[in-house]
Amino acid sequence: MIYADNAATTSVSKTALDAMLPYLTTAYGNPSSSYSFGRQANRAIASATETVAKCLNAEPKEIYFTSGGSEADNQAILSAARAGLRRGRKHIISTPFEHHAVLHTLDKLKKEGFDITLLDVHEDGVVRVEELKEALREDTCLVTVMFANNEVGTVQPIPEIGALCRERGIPFHTDAVQAAGHMPIDVKSMNIDMLSLSGHKFHSPKGTGVLYCAKNIPLYSLIEGGAQQRGKRAGTENVAGIVALAAALEESCDNMEKDRAKVCAMRDTLIRELSKIPHSKINGSPEHHVPGTVNICFEGIEGSALLLELDKHGICASAGSACTSGSADPSHVLLSLHVPYELARGSLRLSVGEYNTPEEMEEICRILPECVEKLRSLSPLWKEYESGKRPHVC
Ligand SMILES: Cc1ncc(COP(=O)(O)O)c(C=O)c1O
Repeated sequence: MIYADNAATTSVSKTALDAMLPYLTTAYGNPSSSYSFGRQANRAIASATETVAKCLNAEPKEIYFTSGGSEADNQAILSAARAGLRRGRKHIISTPFEHHAVLHTLDKLKKEGFDITLLDVHEDGVVRVEELKEALREDTCLVTVMFANNEVGTVQPIPEIGALCRERGIPFHTDAVQAAGHMPIDVKSMNIDMLSLSGHKFHSPKGTGVLYCAKNIPLYSLIEGGAQQRGKRAGTENVAGIVALAAALEESCDNMEKDRAKVCAMRDTLIRELSKIPHSKINGSPEHHVPGTVNICFEGIEGSALLLELDKHGICASAGSACTSGSADPSHVLLSLHVPYELARGSLRLSVGEYNTPEEMEEICRILPECVEKLRSLSPLWKEYESGKRPHVC
């Protein structure tokens, strides 16, 4: 099998597994218990908190552990909305190509009377800071713009967006689920007030995440029932998961430079070879991107059919969030980049990580063109392009 879907999830690293195992087996105390067996678990959380804070250049009291990126996004946005409401502010700015954990939360707030502005992300998938500046209002209570997109990998001008928000006294949240562990993050120098990350994107188990919330930003709990995590997230902590996340994040940050060079080289191979396939289009920004994600559309075929073909060859990839969930609609991310509807239906995301090899890239580059050719030979739409009945879009 060739696993090329690292933006969906990753395997648990040996470092993370070794770190978490004692808290599943011998050191299983409840961190809220006052006896020393419980305090041992509590100390493990404190140490993990320090590690995560160090990786983000935050303070330990600004770190909250969650069940993943979705929960962190929900808490950050709903919290900022509640704080905004208290000051009579009901306007939020975001982008149309956020993850649904953000977009669906904004939909919910819209139904509750909030005014939501979604900025254009242009064809390259990048927000223009000038356009954000124009969209800011007296009653804006939050700007939430993702650090790196999960489908096309485009990275936003986060420090500039943060600086603008700070100048205007508006809280800035970023969904850094696809960036954390893969790109340097410094919440202080990047002017970030709230940040979400998810452990399973960098070799921690699924169901682990972090919300960073700067100490001067009000934070409300989503979950009531206990005083854990300074009263901001009730529920017995997932001690083993928290320890694993900290170990995995630290390892990813320590190896970042080395891994980045390797992963970027593999991504470059994919882009160079796959863009030779006629009537294909690489999506996203060629300059501002996470190391391992490639998104490409092929005219005349369905992304979901291509995934099945690749699966027959043992290649795991993704077509983008909407398609993978069984919907026939093209991805909202690609449509927001102004990719034509019929082309967006033929999308493929390959996301490689440091555990992949250059040999695997060669294999993908050998098999993928054959799969595209096979599907095109069966596609009525492709025949229309080829006969000139329908003009090619790329
Ligand atoms: C950008 C982004 N945000 C949020 C999430 C949700 O994270 P989790 O699966 O940890 O809830 C994902 C997951 O794919 C993501 O890619």
